[in-house]
Amino acid sequence: MTKVAPSILSANFATLKDEIKSVEVQADYIHVDVMDGHFVPNITIGPMIVEAIRPVTELPLDVHLMIENPDQYIDAFAEAGADIISVHEEACPHLHRVIQQIRQHDVKPGVVINPATPVSAIEPILQEVDLVLVMTVNPGFGGQSFIDSTVGKIEDLAKLKADYGFDYEIEVDGGVKPETAKTCVEAGADVLVAGSAVFKQDDRQAAIEAIRSSYE
Ligand code: DX5
Ligand code: ZN
Repeated sequence: MTKVAPSILSANFATLKDEIKSVEVQADYIHVDVMDGHFVPNITIGPMIVEAIRPVTELPLDVHLMIENPDQYIDAFAEAGADIISVHEEACPHLHRVIQQIRQHDVKPGVVINPATPVSAIEPILQEVDLVLVMTVNPGFGGQSFIDSTVGKIEDLAKLKADYGFDYEIEVDGGVKPETAKTCVEAGADVLVAGSAVFKQDDRQAAIEAIRSSYE
């Protein structure tokens, strides 16, 4: 069954605990967007917030690092309680080393590609990762429009997974809402990240239900 990972980027940070509780019953992961103001033009949260929300929920914390030099921060995010840590291919000249560093902490490693990055850029690492995150917007902000040309990459990753027996989950992130979720699922997505489509809605359970019922 396709997983849904609400992104707390669109939540109310003043009441983060309650925000997480409001999605906990229906969500599969809590998606945590970490931005440094360099790799992307926005600044969000660091390991202290991950540590603070760790006891709030038993759901896996799916930490998406949109930062330069992620190797310098992986230890801190792992110790703070991340269950999955994903790094951008575009930020990692030594991608294998960073993936190994994540796994050494018993944390699941993921690799992320921006809309303009081809799947071929990560083919050598596919057998090493537990998650491949396909950005369906340019990272940095919630509430952007889904970029249709990324769908072919979801299909390619699903085919590679089937052909070679890889066991990564394919996650999509950006502009996911009931109108776009079905396309992603049909292309082969296993995990749907949704920020504004969940946290900008008053009824979170209905919002997640609307995403799920668009493809079920
Ligand atoms: C974008 C972030 C996303 C963001 C998605 O840079 O990586 O996780 O929260 O927000 P929506 O779902 O509103 O596009
Ligand atoms: Zn994200």
